Amino acid sequence: MKIAVLNGSPKGEVSVTMQYVHFLQLRFPEAEFEFFDVALKIKKLEKDDKAFGEVIAGVAAADAVLWAFPLYFLVVCSQYKRFIELIFEKNAVPAFRGKPAASLSTSINFFDYTAHNYINAVCDDLQMNFFGSYSAEMNDLLKTKERQRLKAFGELFMKAIKDKTPAIRNNRPLVAPEVIFEAGQITPVETEGKKVLIVADDLAENSNLQKMVERLRQTFSPAAELVQLKDIDIKGGCLGCIQCGFDNVCVYEGKDGFIDFFNSKIKTADILFLAGAIHDRYLSSLWKCFFDRSFFNGHTPFLKDKQIGFVISGPFGQIHNLREIFEASMAIQQAGLNGFVSDDIGTSAEIDTALQSMATRAVAQSKLGYIPPPTFYQVAGNKLFRDAIWSRLRPVFQADHRYYKKHGMYNFPQKNYKWRMINSILVGLTKIPKVRKEFIKRMKKEMIKPCANALKRTE
Ligand SMILES: Cc1cc2nc3c(=O)[nH]c(=O)nc-3n(C[C@H](O)[C@H](O)[C@H](O)COP(=O)(O)O)c2cc1C
Repeated sequence: MKIAVLNGSPKGEVSVTMQYVHFLQLRFPEAEFEFFDVALKIKKLEKDDKAFGEVIAGVAAADAVLWAFPLYFLVVCSQYKRFIELIFEKNAVPAFRGKPAASLSTSINFFDYTAHNYINAVCDDLQMNFFGSYSAEMNDLLKTKERQRLKAFGELFMKAIKDKTPAIRNNRPLVAPEVIFEAGQITPVETEGKKVLIVADDLAENSNLQKMVERLRQTFSPAAELVQLKDIDIKGGCLGCIQCGFDNVCVYEGKDGFIDFFNSKIKTADILFLAGAIHDRYLSSLWKCFFDRSFFNGHTPFLKDKQIGFVISGPFGQIHNLREIFEASMAIQQAGLNGFVSDDIGTSAEIDTALQSMATRAVAQSKLGYIPPPTFYQVAGNKLFRDAIWSRLRPVFQADHRYYKKHGMYNFPQKNYKWRMINSILVGLTKIPKVRKEFIKRMKKEMIKPCANALKRTE
């Protein structure tokens, strides 16, 4: 049995994820694993049809495909994303069709499922026989129980390959919107000194996206600034070297224009709109590159307090996973999300109204400094990062550690001595049946008692 491993780590063989694949390789000697470093070699694969053809021939000759990748910003890295785009652009889909597939990732478990949802959807689009996904925490291989779990997954996958078990298809094919957008009457929105920036990847002349962006740009008075990522000198995707962890200095610094662009434009904007078209089940790999390269800021909320909106062309409404990725990303950034306007929300007039509303809301929220209260994404995400930076990630992510310390992000509950004392007294008292009965009787009223004082306050 031959398994083609599509390696999605920009680090190639020196990748944590690949060690998990090697574990499977050792446990299942009857299977022949063939490795393709598609993320590392993306530049070559893009330019060199022969090199790309060799990968595709490897896939075609295999009995199954293993998508093995690290998590990068809730999805896969931009280089892997680009490889997926190339499969469709270079008409390589037939090599994948009907083939059993599984996905295997390593990460710190921060939005690992959105990455697997993405790969699952890509496999469904390729009409592969998607068996399932395995998300390993990057240190799992060191634990006996986790090695046993991974072995069991391998066993199940091998059996599914042999038995040709049909897959459960989770994603229906996407249907592109047919509407042609034409801008309507603009009601100017005064920016009142707020800096408004629209960032697009690449605006094709006269496309819906270009017309929507232009409509939004002109809505502001003065008109918003527009930057296209294709005009920024970006030498390549994030290399995953994590050298930036020490002092937020990227290895690309001084070698291309991305960091300057990010610091001078993105960080200084009050209101930011991100505009792009759907490519497979995400935006373009260029947009993915933007997010990946922002990693030089570490695990800090570098878009904090900005108002952010999305302008999207394509079947965005059918890709709930993508909405979740962006909602979660903005929540963890502590930014104010102004909404998503895509050209699949309705008629041209409805899109036009939505753009007008998004512009109005962005300025109103920015003036008030309104950021929505944290939801599960931010609350849970912060705790996950807090624990990781405090412990095993600290030797590398020292800049994050300094930031977390300075901004009170090390809010461990065990440091809350007041509640530790109250809890030990109350828990002890409620062990006495009579006290417990009284406690239960008064519980509801006691819960709202502290609110009484707050309600009297005027500020
Ligand atoms: C740019 C970048 C983005 C990352 N984004 C995530 C993420 O969204 N979620 C997560 O759990 N881990 C994230 N990680 C951690 C990696 O997924 C993790 O370290 C992985 O094990 C690296 O695997 P590799 O050595 O095979 O490349 C990120 C790492 C980098 C460098």
